[in-house]
Amino acid sequence: MRDNLNVKGMRDYYPELMAKLNHIFNVWRKTALAYGFEEYDGPILETLELYRLKSGDEIVKQLYNFTDKGGRELALRPELTPTLARMVSKVYNEIQKPIKWFSIPRCLRYEKPQKGRLREFFQFNIDIIGEKDELADAEVIAVAVDSLKNLGLTANDFIVKINNRDFVSSFFNRYNIDEKNIFKIYKIIDNARKVPQSVTDEAIRSLSLNSEQIDGVYKYLSIRSIDDDSFLNENSEGSNSLLRLFEMIGKMGLENYCIFDPTIVRGLDYYTGTVFEIYDRSEKMRAICGGGRYNRLLQEFLGKEVPACGFGMGDVVLGEILDSKGLLPPYSKSIDYFLARISDEELGIMLRVASALRRDGKRVEYVYRNQPVKKQMAKASKLGARYVLIFGPDEVRNGMVKLKDMETGEETLKELSEYVRD
Ligand code: HAM
Repeated sequence: MRDNLNVKGMRDYYPELMAKLNHIFNVWRKTALAYGFEEYDGPILETLELYRLKSGDEIVKQLYNFTDKGGRELALRPELTPTLARMVSKVYNEIQKPIKWFSIPRCLRYEKPQKGRLREFFQFNIDIIGEKDELADAEVIAVAVDSLKNLGLTANDFIVKINNRDFVSSFFNRYNIDEKNIFKIYKIIDNARKVPQSVTDEAIRSLSLNSEQIDGVYKYLSIRSIDDDSFLNENSEGSNSLLRLFEMIGKMGLENYCIFDPTIVRGLDYYTGTVFEIYDRSEKMRAICGGGRYNRLLQEFLGKEVPACGFGMGDVVLGEILDSKGLLPPYSKSIDYFLARISDEELGIMLRVASALRRDGKRVEYVYRNQPVKKQMAKASKLGARYVLIFGPDEVRNGMVKLKDMETGEETLKELSEYVRD
């Protein structure tokens, strides 16, 4: 027997896992619809060029890409945002703005599989395109918070950490740091909350920065809150946008779920203003969700700047958190009716009843090859049947069928015409 044919980092979606995922997807979908978002999807294959242009180096390193039989360089989608930008640009001028779309795509990234990270995952995407007001950013965050709340999590379980890319870049602009170093600084800032201070110190020392620039990095890292003078004195487009965003968050009653965190910068190149990530409070896991504003991503397709913001929330970290807190419904197979027959003489009427019940949306099963009724009853219990209909020759001859309530054990005779209406 060969048992080594599984691809690394991929899951087999057995019914039990599929039931858990469907529970998560249903809550995601319901939450998005409640905010008026419309569902869409793109293809799983895109040109490699799309990600080279749009996502930046980090994602391109993680791509599954190949040359197809026609010599085209293609990639399996690692995320949906470039596809969304490509799709929206084709219809942007014709459709109602802002565009509010959501999707639950399957994505693939060639990452090192580890806790919370796989090579294939599902990612809930919410995006608002064509609106620059921070209320849109706040609404995107509200959808993320509501989906987690609707899955049973509370403010004690997770936190939304928010920053603004424009605020970070205008803070560092005054220090005349060259572009190569500024990206390294962003990386150090991003890592600062995950590593000991000594590692951050060493990373800062390893850059060729002058003492004023080094002071700047430490000054930045010391900002703790948007009420700090060091923050308020900034008075930049980014800092003002953060202030308005937090005002909106307050008006939405989400202040217990959100904090300002200057170390959030995000790996993807396309983000411009607001950036945010959601973590479980213990911070032992990687981010549950990441998103923000990407006002320049559509420019290349449309020739003009179009404001946009959104997020991606994966199923893997979230699934582990929900599992550990017992928030995923227990898996058990159940059906509404099991149909048992004494002999194959009753098969015809039994199948007609099955068909009528199924048309009514009931889940119905029976055995394919006839068995003693005792065995059929045992099968009905195993399948978690709520009711059993027993078709016997005497009853059927009189236009009747026996109904057994599997919860109470009660048996009653019913008219067959109650079940077959044609
Ligand atoms: P991202 O931060 O690359 O953003 O991914 C968002 C979320 O997807 C992560 O927080 C994580 O939950 C999940 N995720 C990413 N990679 C993996 C993986 N290898 N295994 C399991 N889960 C993973 C984006 O993808 C942006 N396109 C999100 C966005 C939409 N921004 C605006 N609109």
